[in-house]
Amino acid sequence: MKIVYWSGSGNTEKMANLIAQGIKENGVEAQVIDVSHANSDIFNDEDIIILGCPAMGAEMLEECEFEPFIESISSKVSGKKAVLFGSYDWGDGEWMRDWMSRMEEYGCDVMFDGLIIHEALEDDCTECLELGKKIAGMLVKSFN
Ligand SMILES: Cc1cc2nc3c(=O)[nH]c(=O)nc-3n(C[C@H](O)[C@H](O)[C@H](O)COP(=O)(O)O)c2cc1C
Repeated sequence: MKIVYWSGSGNTEKMANLIAQGIKENGVEAQVIDVSHANSDIFNDEDIIILGCPAMGAEMLEECEFEPFIESISSKVSGKKAVLFGSYDWGDGEWMRDWMSRMEEYGCDVMFDGLIIHEALEDDCTECLELGKKIAGMLVKSFN
């Protein structure tokens, strides 16, 4: 499974690594990829796409790298399951609600609620680990 993320100060990156850890703990491979190393074909062979970006701008996705990346995959993700996550600070999660709707408009089936964690997270943030386990569980189910 591939997790593509953007992170400025490391919080969303930490979430990505913990989600990957949860996925691996349930026996599924997971790769964590900085969006600067991803191209628009990265999810072509994936049924489940996992994306992380903090709230930036005014309740926006990060605009230099992550926003163009999302735009670039918009016509290629219809029919896939999407899992979204990210860190935030002073807002109420509006960016995540907008992002979930947007992925749905692209034809994705957005799984679970986008996981939002307020700023710095614990090193063993259980919500992230649990999300990883749930994601791995989805893959196992789709094989059976
Ligand atoms: C330029 C900038 C804009 C931000 N805009 C928002 C915002 O609109 N809403 C919010 O809740 N947090 C906002 N934040 C706070 C970040 O989402 C928060 O610090 C988050 O933990 C950063 O994640 P990261 O460490 O993965 O970069 C902003 C932070 C920066 C630096």
